[in-house]
Amino acid sequence: MLNLASVLSPLLLLLSTKLVIATTRCHFPAVINFGDSNSDTGGLAAAFGQPPPPNGDTFFHRPAGRYSDGRLLIDFMVQSLGLPYLSAFLDALGSNFTHGANFATGGSTIRPQNTTRHQSGLSPISLSVQSYQFNDFYTRTPKVQGFFKELVPKPEAFTRGLYTFDIGQNDLTGGLFLNLTVDQVKASIPDILGQFKAVVKDVHDKGGRFFWIHNTGPIGCLPYVLEHLPINEQQLDSNGCANPFNELARFFNHRLKDLVNRLREELPKAVITYVDIYKARYTLISQARENGFEHPLIVCCGYGGKYKYNIRVGCGGRVSDKGKEIFVGACKDPSVTIIWDGIHYTEAANKWVFDHIMNGSYSDPPAPLLMACRGLVY
Ligand SMILES: *[C@@H]1O[C@H](CO)[C@@H](O)[C@H](O)[C@H]1NC(C)=O
Ligand SMILES: *[C@@H]1O[C@H](CO)[C@@H](O)[C@H](O)[C@H]1NC(C)=O
Ligand SMILES: *[C@@H]1O[C@H](CO)[C@@H](O)[C@H](O)[C@H]1NC(C)=O
Ligand SMILES: *[C@@H]1O[C@H](CO)[C@@H](O)[C@H](O)[C@H]1NC(C)=O
Repeated sequence: MLNLASVLSPLLLLLSTKLVIATTRCHFPAVINFGDSNSDTGGLAAAFGQPPPPNGDTFFHRPAGRYSDGRLLIDFMVQSLGLPYLSAFLDALGSNFTHGANFATGGSTIRPQNTTRHQSGLSPISLSVQSYQFNDFYTRTPKVQGFFKELVPKPEAFTRGLYTFDIGQNDLTGGLFLNLTVDQVKASIPDILGQFKAVVKDVHDKGGRFFWIHNTGPIGCLPYVLEHLPINEQQLDSNGCANPFNELARFFNHRLKDLVNRLREELPKAVITYVDIYKARYTLISQARENGFEHPLIVCCGYGGKYKYNIRVGCGGRVSDKGKEIFVGACKDPSVTIIWDGIHYTEAANKWVFDHIMNGSYSDPPAPLLMACRGLVY
C-alpha cells in the first residue's frame, strides 16, 4: 500500500525550515537522564563505590553501578532507541557521552536534604546538583568538541535529545524515615514539585524540547518501607502493600500530573510524556503469578524477616548466623522475582515494566517511546 506520509513529508519539509513534521519514528541523538537509583547507571558508584556483587550478575556479570541484578528501565529504553547504555556523568573511567549522559545517582531526591548520606542514605546529589552538572555539560560540550569529538554529543543533541526524569521517590520515603507523618510529607509536595519544575524549565531554556517523565512507584510495596515504617495489618491491601504509603505516592503523582499539564501550557514548544510507572509496577505486583513471577514482595537478594529483608544486612553483605558467616547473595532464580534487594527491582521486573510502557499504554498522552517527539524535529 502506498504510504501517504512518505509522499507528504517532502511537502511538509517546505513549510518550515526549522520545524519538520514527520510521521515516522523519532531519531533521538541522545538521552539525558535525571533521577535516583531507579535509573542510576554508575553515578553513585563513581562517587561512593560500586554496589557489591551479586549486583549486576544476571546481565553484566559484574557490578555495573546499578542497584539490580541487571538492566534498569533506562537501559531498556536507550537500547530500544538504538543508543548505547548511558554513561554516568560523574564516572571518570571509560565514559562516552556521544549519545547522552546520566545525572542520576542512587538516593537522590528532588529537594536538597539536610542530612548526610551517612545519616539517612540519601545522596547529596539532589536534582538541583544534577542540574548544575547538566549546565556544566551543556556549556562545556561545544568548547571541548575539537578534542573530544568521539566522546561528547554534537551541540544539536541538546535540542533534539530526549530528556528523561525518574525522581521523587526518595523525597517521600526520606521524609517518612525522618518520622514525618504522611500529612507532613504531603504538605512538602508543593515545594518538592516547585523545584522539579524549575529544573524542567531550565532544560527547556537551554533548548530541550522532548521530555519523558516517570511518576513515582508504589513505595508501599517495597520491603524496606514495609519492614521499617510503622504499619499495622489493617493498613495492608490485598497484595500486602501498605495503603497509606501507596496513597502518598498516588497523591504525589496526581500533583506531578497537574504540574505536567501546567508545563504544557507554559512551555508550548515542549513535548512532554507523563508515564504512569506506579500503575505499571503495581499491575506487575498484583498480577505477578499471571506474569510468571513468584511471591511478589519477597526479596531476591536479602536476609531475614518476613520479606527476606533487613536494613542492616544489605545485598552483597555478610551476616553472622549462629556463629557462621553467611554471604547475602541472590535467590535461585532472579528471573521469576520482582524485588531485587528490598528497594530496587530485578532486571526481569524492569524488563516487564519496560515492555508495557514502551507502547504508550501507561502514558499520557498514550504515545510510544519511539514517538516521544510526536513527529516534531527541531
Ligand atoms: C532543610 O532546611 C531548610 C532550612 O530550615 C528548609 O527550608 C528545607 O525545607 C529543609 N529541607 C528539607 C528537605 O527538609
Ligand atoms: C563513543 O561512542 C560512539 C558511539 O557509540 C563511538 O562512535 C565512538 O567511537 C566512541 N568513542 C570512543 C573514544 O570510543
Ligand atoms: C524515628 O522514630 C523511631 C522510633 O521512635 C526512632 O527510633 C528514630 O530514631 C526516629 N528517627 C529520627 C530520624 O528521628
Ligand atoms: C502494550 O504492550 C503490552 C506488552 O506487550 C501489551 O500487553 C499491551 O496490550 C500493549 N498495549 C497496546 C495499547 O498496544
